[in-house]
Amino acid sequence: SSSPPDAQDADAFFDGVDLRRLAERLPTPFHAYSAHAIRQRIDGLQQALHGLDATLCYAVKANSTLAILHLMAEAGVGADIVSSGELWRSLHAGIPAERIVFSGVGKTEQEIAEALAAGILRFNVESADELHTLQRLASDLHIAARAAVRINPDVDAQTHAKISTGKAENKFGVSIAEARRWFAEAGRLTHVRLDGLHVHIGSQILSVEPFRLALQRVAAFWRELEANGHAIASIDVGGGLGVCYRAGQDHPVAPADYAAAIREALAGFRGRILLEPGRYLVAEAGVLLTRVIRIKQGERQNFLVLDAAMNDLLRPSLYDAWHDIVPLVDGQRERTRYDVVGPVCETGDTFARDRELPELRPGDLVMIRGTGAYGASMASTYNSRPLAAEVLLDQRRHAIVRHRQRFEDMVAGEQPARDWDMA
Ligand code: LLP
Repeated sequence: SSSPPDAQDADAFFDGVDLRRLAERLPTPFHAYSAHAIRQRIDGLQQALHGLDATLCYAVKANSTLAILHLMAEAGVGADIVSSGELWRSLHAGIPAERIVFSGVGKTEQEIAEALAAGILRFNVESADELHTLQRLASDLHIAARAAVRINPDVDAQTHAKISTGKAENKFGVSIAEARRWFAEAGRLTHVRLDGLHVHIGSQILSVEPFRLALQRVAAFWRELEANGHAIASIDVGGGLGVCYRAGQDHPVAPADYAAAIREALAGFRGRILLEPGRYLVAEAGVLLTRVIRIKQGERQNFLVLDAAMNDLLRPSLYDAWHDIVPLVDGQRERTRYDVVGPVCETGDTFARDRELPELRPGDLVMIRGTGAYGASMASTYNSRPLAAEVLLDQRRHAIVRHRQRFEDMVAGEQPARDWDMA
């Protein structure tokens, strides 16, 4: 096993910015994102897909901060949304509706109507009820909706159970048998053009095999549909590409290998290929900067108490996720082991157990890596801790793209029960 990365001077520089100096200007905790790292990921993926008619639709949920969405819009990347809120953010950031796809099992009538009115590219439909609702609402609006069936390929993505979506027992998508019936009856859908397939089997996938298996199942179904006269205009291969959270331990799938699996499975497909990467584009482009509040000597272990907590970064609490923790401190220090925790009042507020680190002191700066995806976007104000600031770094400059919430922002919309009403 590898020991955690050392506090090398190089670690303190992110997109040319010295994070130690930045942290002197900004109170911790805050998130910092490297624009360069995000653009590199976009370019890398696009290069791997070269020659294919492929469109990236960034999974907004991974990091929905407007500045990140702006960056996506500038790079020509579309959006995969799962709510009206994400639709609003995406449009607001300049992502055109014709590059937006809408996924999710719980789209409400209101949300479907809004997406129809906006003229989004495609609905990834996950149930018969949703399909009929879409038909009815599109008919009311005299609009032709474009739809893909989300296939549940019954494939084990070999990832954490809470982020696995492609097994038959998961709530997502429909079986190929059910999708077959939808296409057989598609002639009755006067306002839905059912001409796409969609699959997304899970997240933080570190092997190409589950992707290959799911794509092969979808491709076999596409060929069957075409043979039966159903033209398929697009196949959406979802997201799920894993990233490196633990240096030396996680071995992500190379974009070239992922693209090769797509090329192979969809060989001969003449339509458009859509991809919904979230984590891959932003996770390693983000770090969370936090300071040591104190060291607490426990009965069995020492606790390193940080000023960041589970409300700022939920992944370790929710999925037991590993994030590399890198103190940005000078000088030679003894190494020791800590349980790394936040100030929130529950035991789950733990970033790492028994983690080997240099000996730290109150005020020391600590960087938590790999927090660009599902960090800020899953944050809450639990324990009345205001949402942390977010900073975008680009070519040795930095810009605040989200101010730390003030208490007034935190309670916006709240009021004492004054104006009672009869229900
Ligand atoms: N497409 C669909 C339909 C999805 O549900 C998701 C993620 C994605 C694309 C993007 O997946 P990605 O490329 O990011 O793996 N909060 C969890 C991850 C939940 C993923 C939910 N769906 C975490 O922090 O690990």
